[in-house]
Amino acid sequence: MTRVFPEGFVWGSATASYQIEGAATEDGRGPSIWDTYSHTPGRTLNGDTGDVAADHYHRWAEDLGHIAELGLSAYRFSISWPRVQPGGSGAFNRAGLDFYSRLVDGLLERGVRPVATMYHWDLPQELEDAGGWPARDTALRFQEYAAGIVAALGDRVHTWTTFNEPWCSAYLGYGSGVHAPGRTEPAGALAAVHHLNLAHGLAGRVVRELAPAAELSVTLNLHVVRPASGSAADADAVRRIDALANRAFLGPLLDGAYPADLLADTAKVTDWSFVRDGDERTIAVPLDVLGVNYYSTTLVRAWDGVSARSDNDGHGSSAHTPWVGADDVDFLPQPGPYTAMGWNIEPAGLTELLLRLHREHPGLPLMITENGAAFDDVVTPDGRVHDDRRLDYLYRHIDAVGTAMDAGADVRGYFVWSLLDNFEWAWGYDRRFGIIRVDYDTQERIWKDSAHWYRALTATGRLEPPAGD
Ligand code: FCB
Repeated sequence: MTRVFPEGFVWGSATASYQIEGAATEDGRGPSIWDTYSHTPGRTLNGDTGDVAADHYHRWAEDLGHIAELGLSAYRFSISWPRVQPGGSGAFNRAGLDFYSRLVDGLLERGVRPVATMYHWDLPQELEDAGGWPARDTALRFQEYAAGIVAALGDRVHTWTTFNEPWCSAYLGYGSGVHAPGRTEPAGALAAVHHLNLAHGLAGRVVRELAPAAELSVTLNLHVVRPASGSAADADAVRRIDALANRAFLGPLLDGAYPADLLADTAKVTDWSFVRDGDERTIAVPLDVLGVNYYSTTLVRAWDGVSARSDNDGHGSSAHTPWVGADDVDFLPQPGPYTAMGWNIEPAGLTELLLRLHREHPGLPLMITENGAAFDDVVTPDGRVHDDRRLDYLYRHIDAVGTAMDAGADVRGYFVWSLLDNFEWAWGYDRRFGIIRVDYDTQERIWKDSAHWYRALTATGRLEPPAGD
C-alpha cells in the first residue's frame, strides 16, 4: 500500500562525529575516550579505530553534496567535544568550531535543517581521567562546553540535541564496559545515568538562554521490553528492565523525578545520594521534541535460578552486566529475521513505542532520530549495491511510523541511520549501516539502492513498497 506522509514531515539522515570524521589528531583535536578505547588491544573488532573513519573532516563538502542530492530536509550530526574544547574545560579550539560552522552554513545554503547533537559519546579523555560521567563535575564541564558551542553556532542550528542515547554512555560505558571508557562499576553506571541527565538539564537551559529560537531535544534509545509469558513474575522482569532502560531517563526528563521502583530495585547497588536537592527540577527543562532511536525489541523473563542466565541484549558480551541490580532477569533470544548485528527485525515494536510515548506524554512531539540496519553489502559488477534487505527494513519501519501516526502519535520526522558506512563502535568497520557505501581504501562513496529509494521518498513523501514486496 502507498502511504502519504504529511507536508512538512522531516526526512533526514544521521551520523556521529567519531564514527565518520577521522582526522583524530588534526587541527588541535584532543583525545576522547573512544580514541583511547579503540587503541586498546582487544576492545574493537580487528582493532579498528576512528583515526580515519569516512574521512568526513576532509570530505565534508562532498558529503554535503550527497545530503543535498538525497533531498534531505534535515541532517543530524554530532559535535566532537574534544575537537572544539580539547581538554574538556577551558579554552575552545577555533579550528574545531570553524569546522562545524562551515558545515552548518553549508547545510543552510542547501536548505537543509542542521540538527546538532552535543554529545554522541566522545568524552574528552582528560575528563574521564578526572572521573568521567560518574563524577558530578563532568556535568558542570558539559554545561560550559554547551555554552561555547551554542554561543558559536546559536540558532543557525535548528535543533539542539543534548545527548545521544545516554543509556549506552552510562550502562555500556561504565556497567558492562563494552563501550568506552570500558569501566565495570555498577554504582558508577547509575551515577553516570544521573550526571548525564543533569548535564542535559544544564545544557538545555543554556540553549534556552543563548539560542531561544532553536528547538531543544534529547535522543533516547528507549527499549521495547516484552515478557516471555503472561506470568506476574515475567511482568515484574519487564518492569525492572523498563525502569533501568526507559524510566531512569523519561522520569526525570519529563516528569521531574526518578521512579520510586528504580530506586528501590537498585538500593543494594547505590543509595542514589548523588542526586542533590533541585537536580530533578534542573533536569526537567521542557523539551520541544523527543528524539527516539529504534532498532529492535527486547524479550525477558524472571530467571528461574537454575538455568544459565543471559543478559545478552544485543550490545556485545561482557562478564559484567549493563543491567545493574537486575540479576534476577533473564534475557531471551528472539525470533528472526535478524540484521548483521544479530538484532531481530520487528517494525511493530516501533509503532508500540511511539504509541506508548503518545499515551504517557501526550502533546510531546516525537522524531525518529535513528533507525536503520547493518547487512553484509556486496558491490556487484555493475558497480552498485543492491541492498534489498536494508531497503525492506527501512520500508517496514517507516510504514510502522505511519501506523503510529494514524493512531494519533505526533511524529514530526524520520532520520535514517546512517548517511554513510562508518565506524560502528566495538564492531569497527565490519558492520555497515550506510545508505551510501564507503570504500575504506579509496574513500569513494557509492549510493546503495536504499539511497536511491530514499531520494524518491524525500521528494514525494509517498512511501511505496519496494519492488517485490
Ligand atoms: C546507536 C548509535 C549509533 C549507531 C547505531 C547503530 O546505538 O547511536 O551511533 O551505532 O546504534
